[in-house]
Amino acid sequence: MVRLALLGAGRIGRVHARAISMVNDAHLKYVFDPGADASQLVVDAYGAISAPIEDILDDSEVDGVLICTPSDQHADQIKRAIKAGKAVFCEKPLSTDLDMTRQVLEVVDEHQGCLMLGFQRRFDSHFMALKAKLAEEAVGSLEQLLIISRDPSPPPYSYMRASGGLFKDMMIHDFDMARWLVDEKIVSVYATGGAIIDEKTRTEGNDIDSASVLMTTETNKQITIINSRRASVGYDQRVEAHCSNATLNVNSMRETTLVVADAGGIAETPLENFFMTRYQDAYRREIEHFVSCVQSSSIPLVLGSDGMEALVLAEAAGSSFSSGFSVKVD
Ligand SMILES: NC(=O)c1ccc[n+]([C@@H]2O[C@H](COP(=O)([O-])OP(=O)(O)OC[C@H]3O[C@@H](n4cnc5c(N)ncnc54)[C@H](O)[C@@H]3O)[C@@H](O)[C@H]2O)c1
Repeated sequence: MVRLALLGAGRIGRVHARAISMVNDAHLKYVFDPGADASQLVVDAYGAISAPIEDILDDSEVDGVLICTPSDQHADQIKRAIKAGKAVFCEKPLSTDLDMTRQVLEVVDEHQGCLMLGFQRRFDSHFMALKAKLAEEAVGSLEQLLIISRDPSPPPYSYMRASGGLFKDMMIHDFDMARWLVDEKIVSVYATGGAIIDEKTRTEGNDIDSASVLMTTETNKQITIINSRRASVGYDQRVEAHCSNATLNVNSMRETTLVVADAGGIAETPLENFFMTRYQDAYRREIEHFVSCVQSSSIPLVLGSDGMEALVLAEAAGSSFSSGFSVKVD
């Protein structure tokens, strides 16, 4: 049995608590969240014990810690948990700061620790099928990749302020997807964006709400990423991979596959509302993978270095957005 602890029982923390309850050989022993209501939900639903971080890290029965706290706290908590000898699953981004990220990776190396990053899209069956298809010779070589990610509505300003901003918080998933699908070094990043949905996003959230990024790889493949914090249609998650012999698409998922055709036309059900439902299978698979890595002391498929590479692209996008120029990625 792998015994786990959860730090942060907000939106994603509760998704992972549920995923743990569905994984054989895993038990959520502890939860810590300074918000008593949030932790109580996890205590009630999954029988976890609410305890301070120090007690959790001191308990030798705890094998792994899931870090689901605000992004500006990840680096410090990863270091503490790794130093205490725990395997760590950390939500994206690894940190909001590149120097901090390097320090974290040094600590992980020094302690030969296990650190897995929460890029759950790599465990989504539809994107896994796309990745497998891209590897087939018949489709030819990838020439252009388009990733569209739009949330149904923006998070609170308080969330934005601790998030590191749209490029590190939201587009970080797309940077990771781009790296994973293209499997080639990205050499330049050009970004545009703004607070066009809600101008208070700038003043209250210290952020933007809409952005488009164009990246090129070392063999001149083109990658376009489009993000928006609002989509009236629902949770819009699409990828198109244009290859020399085929164009591959993964479309946004609907709540059901029901189609109603009548005299008024043909209607489908709405898109999945948000990440909690769209990626629920992927979250279960990624936690299953983390648990199996802890059990077998094997290396996770998504590493701290993947978190750093994605953050490097997010920082480059931030610099390009500020300067208005394309940024070379070292
Ligand atoms: N992979 C994904 O799809 C995905 C989706 C959403 C969020 N995230 C990431 O997960 C993290 C949390 O996001 P969220 O949407 O759940 O935020 P949230 O605000 O809903 O939850 C964060 C929780 O952490 C708690 N918290 C604050 N300080 C803490 C501390 N020191 N120790 C323990 N708990 C603490 C808060 O009280 C809150 O309950 C962020 O880093 C975000 O980028 C990832």
